[in-house]
Amino acid sequence: MENMKDSTLEMYSSGQAVVQIQKTEDWDFETADTRHNTHGMHTYPARMVPQIAEKLIKKYSQTDELVYDPMCGSGTVLVEAVLSERQAIGTDLNPLAILLSKVKTTPIETNYLKKQVFEFLEKLNSQFNKFDTSNKRKPSPPDFGNIEFWFKPQIISDLAIIREQIFKVEDKEIRNFLLVPFSLTVRKASNTRSGEFKLYRYSPTLLEKHNPNTMKIFKEALKKSMSCLLEFNQSTNLQSHCRVYKADARYTKNIIKDNSIDLIVTSPPYGDSRTTVAYGQFSRLSLQWLGLDCDEIGSYEEITKLDKASLGGSLRKNYDYSLKSKSLDKVLKSIASKDIQRAEEVAWFFVDLNDVYKQMHRVLRKDGVAGIVIGNRTVKETSIPSSTITSELCEEIGFETIENNGRNIPYKTIPLINSPTNEAGIVGRTMDKESIIVVRK
Ligand SMILES: C[S@@+](CC[C@H](N)C(=O)[O-])C[C@H]1O[C@@H](n2cnc3c(N)ncnc32)[C@H](O)[C@@H]1O
Repeated sequence: MENMKDSTLEMYSSGQAVVQIQKTEDWDFETADTRHNTHGMHTYPARMVPQIAEKLIKKYSQTDELVYDPMCGSGTVLVEAVLSERQAIGTDLNPLAILLSKVKTTPIETNYLKKQVFEFLEKLNSQFNKFDTSNKRKPSPPDFGNIEFWFKPQIISDLAIIREQIFKVEDKEIRNFLLVPFSLTVRKASNTRSGEFKLYRYSPTLLEKHNPNTMKIFKEALKKSMSCLLEFNQSTNLQSHCRVYKADARYTKNIIKDNSIDLIVTSPPYGDSRTTVAYGQFSRLSLQWLGLDCDEIGSYEEITKLDKASLGGSLRKNYDYSLKSKSLDKVLKSIASKDIQRAEEVAWFFVDLNDVYKQMHRVLRKDGVAGIVIGNRTVKETSIPSSTITSELCEEIGFETIENNGRNIPYKTIPLINSPTNEAGIVGRTMDKESIIVVRK
């Protein structure tokens, strides 16, 4: 293991070897710009720090090799793989993640992009003017149940005009590109409190003052997306390609061949979506607006069930399972002594995560490496050493742990404050450290 310094955070025994968790400055990237290039196009909960992905990719793979992120989220690893001239492949359950990953890794010829966006904006402006001055029938919004709870009538009408105009664009790559600033606009113009990943409606007083200018928000977001993609166009050599699939990372047999991947870099969720980061809830309004007209999105039913489909999302009784991790056993006993249901939830999350690790082992080539960025969390005042558990589970599957680095999470990148006890109004810090575990097949 490299970088053995005095700054060891924690030691634990893993099989025969004593593994030291390192705390080095190198992995914190505290002052790094994490929104450069296409990383700055759209928010997404718990994004990986791009510099971590870049460091792992450059250290553990060669030009043109195949890098895979099984839970690619907004595509940070995929973007960094393409920028480092690797081939990339990603999977995720969340259709918004798929859309973002595709758009962020797909260069569009600069002059063509500018021309298409210019023409689109001209048509959009003329549509807005037309509906302003006539009583012509306005485009219909998507038909989802509580639309009026989350959007004011004027916003619904404005969003419907933008949406209709986007769906008239014939070129799919341009259409997908336009959907990204549209998704941001949906979020910003909605009645959802800003700065939250879960959906919380503004209080009545704040709601009264909330009168956003939809078109202005959309144009600003589009301008930002343009500058991001133009930067990406300039920094990619067009030899690197990225494929992204909507898939459950536990079941990838039909998508990814055995022994076909050179490097995996991924950051799993911290726990089940209900009690940690609700990716489905974060994406719901965008997905409902992007809706059924968009190939990437899927059915409304799928959208509302996203969090249940995520790791640890399906609650099962009696955690009689065969995972071999001493650290997990200890943690489960401690949580179960206070709350048996919470212990079961944690157990099933790790059962699901272990299935992903098994798939990662299957698809990696011999000697292939996986870099896993994972946070420790606290449930019922019990600290869960997810990194140690990951290392133990991976070794049981057949991996060898070759690095274990600790890093502090700069305050802004994840929602640190939520309710670990899951009771309304009770807040606490659930996580402020994470680890970068590197295992080899
Ligand atoms: C921590 S986020 C990944 C963030 C990503 N590295 C980024 O920078 O945007 C975890 C991701 O795991 C995905 N996920 C959860 N369960 C999954 C499953 N069973 N299969 C595939 N993806 C899953 C979530 O949708 C979420 O996008």
